[in-house]
Amino acid sequence: MASLSTVSVSLGERSYEIVIQPGLLNRLATRVRELGVKGKAAVVTDRHVARYYLAPVLRALSSCAVKAVPIVLPPGEQFKTLTTVKKILDVLARCRLERSSFVFALGGGVIGDLAGFTAAVYQRGIPFVQIPTTLIAQSDSSVGGKTGVDHRLGKNLIGAFYQPKAVWIDPLTLRTLPKRQWVAGLAEVIKYGVIADERLLSYVERHVSGLLKRQPLAMAVVIKRSCEIKAEIVMADERESDRRRVLNFGHTIGHALETLGGYRSLIHGEAVGIGMVEEADLACFLGICERSLVERIRRVVRAVGLPDRMPRWSSAKVWNAMLHDKKVSGGQVVGVWPVSIGQVRILPIDEPTFHRWYRDAHRHGIAGRKEAREGRFAVARRFV
Ligand SMILES: NC(=O)c1ccc[n+]([C@@H]2O[C@H](COP(=O)([O-])OP(=O)(O)OC[C@H]3O[C@@H](n4cnc5c(N)ncnc54)[C@H](O)[C@@H]3O)[C@@H](O)[C@H]2O)c1
Ligand SMILES: [Zn+2]
Repeated sequence: MASLSTVSVSLGERSYEIVIQPGLLNRLATRVRELGVKGKAAVVTDRHVARYYLAPVLRALSSCAVKAVPIVLPPGEQFKTLTTVKKILDVLARCRLERSSFVFALGGGVIGDLAGFTAAVYQRGIPFVQIPTTLIAQSDSSVGGKTGVDHRLGKNLIGAFYQPKAVWIDPLTLRTLPKRQWVAGLAEVIKYGVIADERLLSYVERHVSGLLKRQPLAMAVVIKRSCEIKAEIVMADERESDRRRVLNFGHTIGHALETLGGYRSLIHGEAVGIGMVEEADLACFLGICERSLVERIRRVVRAVGLPDRMPRWSSAKVWNAMLHDKKVSGGQVVGVWPVSIGQVRILPIDEPTFHRWYRDAHRHGIAGRKEAREGRFAVARRFV
């Protein structure tokens, strides 16, 4: 049998297990029985995922005498809305799902966020299980209990913290993922390496080719380690007060680029790839880290095929987009700055400093900036 590993998320009565196993989808009945799923259930998925993976999930549920209702949604972030939640709720109500019925989220982060939020509000909360099928979902979004939908005025503006009863990960499902989505997911894995684990980062550096070929072992290794790191951070800070903020490395500038590109020109992981390189560069400008760290991050980002160059937005545009992020508090932009691999600092940055760095970084390019170093350290001391 293909090797199975588990990661525990210990949150008192909200504790659960993450099970990672290549081929798990074809052995799902065991998991369903273990969890005690009975009666009725709903399987929320999207059209792309349904094509490949809905049948085995329905088969497993039916073999355990669970009456499952499939809910197949159109794919895409534009459907992560309250309107879709209402449609799912209509089906749950019509099919008379009860307090003990399960919702299964089979898909990427969009499906996980949507189905999780619906499960959180239907009858004030019914159990749900994540069966993530994208790398972003398997390494990040399915763990931690953040659920929700977008609003016209902001991404993820409406939501709830609601933990799943289990996360079941089959890395082999990632083989049907479009290449662009696969590579984008690697950005989050690199992020975990930078913020928490030198061994993970060097594993990615050494196994770029295996990862790009989506070898089962390489996939399972990086997914498991990412889940362990995410679980550890969530256990220390379930509702994002402070410790969980480290997960935003690459996302301060990344989110701004995603917004400026209208969520189309750059997908999330691509924006995070650029964000990590730029934020490390900014940290170096501030004297927080060495230039060699910036270059290491840039090399690995490039090696996996992620973009590492800032699109041509003005400094003011990027700053304003950063200010509009919902993580900004009291008009301050708080960033996560790498000190070394596995160590970050969380500090606010002010607007003039940001513009100074931006002008410097994007006028001279990395190599031509030596001469600016004196000024840079002066800024750094004031800032830190
Ligand atoms: N809750 C959290 O903590 C958290 C964390 C990070 C991201 N997110 C959210 O996750 C979303 C992004 O997730 P995503 O990148 O997984 O996007 P996604 O769910 O839109 O999936 C990307 C695309 O891949 C397709 N797909 C999914 N699995 C497939 C497979 N195995 N084979 C073929 N096609 C497949 C989907 O149909 C979709 O078209 C965003 O809405 C983001 O806000 C949430
Ligand atoms: Zn992310």
